[in-house]
Amino acid sequence: SDIRPLVAGNWKMNGTRASLDQIRAIAHGVSGPLSRKVDALVCPPSTLLYVATTLTVDTRLLIGAQDCHQKARTGAHTGDISAEMIRDCFGTHVIVGHSERRKEHRENNKVVSTKARAAYDQGLTAIVCIGETRSEHASGRTMDVLHRQLFESMPDDATGENTIIAYEPIWAIGTGQTPGPEQVADVHAAMRRDLIERFGDAGERFRLLYGGSVKPGNAKELMSVPHVNGALIGGASLKAADFLSIYHAY
Ligand code: G3H
Repeated sequence: SDIRPLVAGNWKMNGTRASLDQIRAIAHGVSGPLSRKVDALVCPPSTLLYVATTLTVDTRLLIGAQDCHQKARTGAHTGDISAEMIRDCFGTHVIVGHSERRKEHRENNKVVSTKARAAYDQGLTAIVCIGETRSEHASGRTMDVLHRQLFESMPDDATGENTIIAYEPIWAIGTGQTPGPEQVADVHAAMRRDLIERFGDAGERFRLLYGGSVKPGNAKELMSVPHVNGALIGGASLKAADFLSIYHAY
């Protein structure tokens, strides 16, 4: 496919100023010849967002945030950050609807879709996460669950430019377990069909990332699956060497 792949790291609630060395090292590692057709993104905690973008000016590493509020700009929402604040810090992307947000902060599909719209409002690209639980997986409901999550979590004005989809089976996150390549292929092909059904030809343009225990050792196999246009990496994105090894799996 002619979709440019994206290797993205989600640092979750990890990273202090000492971790900025890893950001520097990742930026250095991905800033080789411009002909490399893979994008790289790191989403540090919001405490490091501004310093991370400042450190990576003039490199090819993109910096994003892990969440934003449903309201795009300002308001009485203690502890939250807005899409406008992310843009102000020179972030370009924001993850919305990660399963940890859905679970720990009770975010449903509608909330996730509203957050994606807040991102668009500020010119950010939303990385919309979906994924089935272990019990949904075990009882054969994966496709139904994903179909619904995909439909309800994406705004009608989503495009391949303002939206990236990340498929993260919840049972694969931080567990070292991953679906087999055939399973990932089935899910990603089904998501592609859903997107084309809803958005027409424009549905071909969305990047579909796989996330859940992506490691240097399995990246090549997972990233070569049809309709897998990159990775959303948790644990292995914290160390520059691991992130870069996955990046170079392409
Ligand atoms: O957003 C990232 C995912 O939740 C994957 O995390 O690579 O540590 O399994 P993991």
